[in-house]
Formats: sequence, structure tokens, C-alpha cells
Amino acid sequence: MARITHGLSTSHIPAIGAMVDQGRTDEPYWQPIFEGYQWTKDYVAQEKPDVVILVYNDHASAFDMKFIPTFAIGCSDEFRPADEGWGPRPVPPVPGHPDLAWHIAQSCILDEFDITIINEMEVDHGLTVPMDVFFDSKDNKTPAQWPVKVVPVAVNVVTYPPPSGNRCWMLGEAIARAVESYPEDLNVHIWGTGGMSHQLQGPRAGLINKEWDQRFLDLMTSDPQKLRTIEHIEYLRETGSEGIEMVMWLIMRGALQGKVTELHRHYHVPCSNTALGHIVLKNEVAETVVA
Ligand code: DHB
Ligand code: FE
Repeated sequence: MARITHGLSTSHIPAIGAMVDQGRTDEPYWQPIFEGYQWTKDYVAQEKPDVVILVYNDHASAFDMKFIPTFAIGCSDEFRPADEGWGPRPVPPVPGHPDLAWHIAQSCILDEFDITIINEMEVDHGLTVPMDVFFDSKDNKTPAQWPVKVVPVAVNVVTYPPPSGNRCWMLGEAIARAVESYPEDLNVHIWGTGGMSHQLQGPRAGLINKEWDQRFLDLMTSDPQKLRTIEHIEYLRETGSEGIEMVMWLIMRGALQGKVTELHRHYHVPCSNTALGHIVLKNEVAETVVA
């Protein structure tokens, strides 16, 4: 049976991808930013997930004002990098897992959690930057092929109204039920990406709220139920207009059903004009069952 063994989160700041592409990750500004991911890279290489359910948001690359799915699942066998204005990133296409993706879609929809099925989709920095920080080589070079299959779960956090944090948590629970009913033995990771505090435009551009971010990271293990009730207005007020991306972390957290242990954390400000946050959680129940 498939099991969700770990939940990971990370910001997806596009400048990180640009530094990888330009070979500038050793520059003094960027070195500590990349260094903070090394523990996780080593851990993921040894853990070898078969599949990552990668919860992310599209930034008007695959979707635009014509189509705004609140929740969507990528069911194709490959996802190509999108052109975000400077040509597609020079990273390999991301391999999908259509069979597991269709299984999750069926399970969630029959479980009364309707999710949009996407058969063709390009992916932007929201998905490719998390791949870089967890799968690039020690010297921060993108591999020729990504060593894992990915089921992308796209969440609308760009156009009002985004889903509530509680709804995201419940989707995580539905995804966990779906994975548990998949018959093949698979080591599945779920990643919640985006955030942390940031605002990209307007008079508050550059807003970073270190205290709020740290508390959010602490609550992931100390009292995660509290995270479910954070209202949109609090994200907006305390973490800037783009801080709402953090609701995607709650899909990851809701999918971890067992006792959760924090294995690693990396918080660095500023990165570009924003806060960078990253956490690795181990789902202890899943580990016990697999053993
Ligand atoms: C930036 C863009 C993002 O989508 C994000 O989540 C963080 C930062 C940026 O353009 O710097
Ligand atoms: Fe973003």
C-alpha cells in the first residue's frame, strides 16, 4: 500500500531558480540560502521517495483569468517548464504519475472533494524551484532527469477568493485517504510550497514578518490545529498580500495523520525581497506501518 511518509515545505522564490540557472549559487548573498537546504537534499537522496505530491500555485502561467480552478490535479505523464517571460527554465520536464494522480482524483471526488482534472499543463517557478532546492546536486546543478515522479496539485492563491486554510487541511486529509487506498507499495512525500511572509507590490512591498513566520513554523508541530483557523485577513495583514500562499502548507499538514516530528528547518530573511521558510516533517505512523 502507498504511504505518505514525510511532509516538506519550502518557499518558491523565483530568484533561487535564476541563480541555479546562472551558476551563481556560491555568491556570498546566496551561499547561506542554498546551504540551508543541504541537510534536506542529503536526506531526500537517502529516503528516495517514489512519488511527490507537490502542492503549489501557478502564477498565471498555465491558468489565467479564463480558467481559475480552486484545486486542480495534474494527471499527465510529463509537465514541461513554462515560459515566464524569459523563455522556459533550462530544467528537465517533470515526470508525472498518471495512475496515482487519477486514483487520487477519483478517490477525492467520490469522497465529495471535487478537484479539477488537468491533462496538459506547463509548470512555473511554483513547482520547479522546490524541485531544485530538494533535488539539485551538492553544487546546486540541476540533474539531467528528475529522480522522482510528481503529482502536481495546483491551488488558486492568486485570484480572490482563495480557499480557506481549513478547506486546505481537509483536502490534505482526503489526499491521505486516497494514497492509503492505492494498492502499490510506494513511498510518497507531500510537499506544501509557497510563502512565507511576502508582498510583491504596492506601498507594503518587501514586507517580512519574522515573528509571525516563526510562530507558524512552530505550530506545524506544537499545535497544528490552530493553523486551520487563521483567517485570510490575518495572512493579508500580518504576512503581506502573497503570504496567503501559506494555506498550501496546510494541505501538506492535513495529509500527515500520525505523530509528526520536525527533522529540519531553514529560515532566512531576506531572500530577494521576501522571507524564505523551509521545514521537514516525518509522519511517524506511516513509518511504523511500512516497517
Ligand atoms: C517572488 C515571487 C513569488 O511567486 C513568490 O512566491 C515569492 C517571491 C518574487 O518575484 O520575488
Ligand atoms: Fe509565489
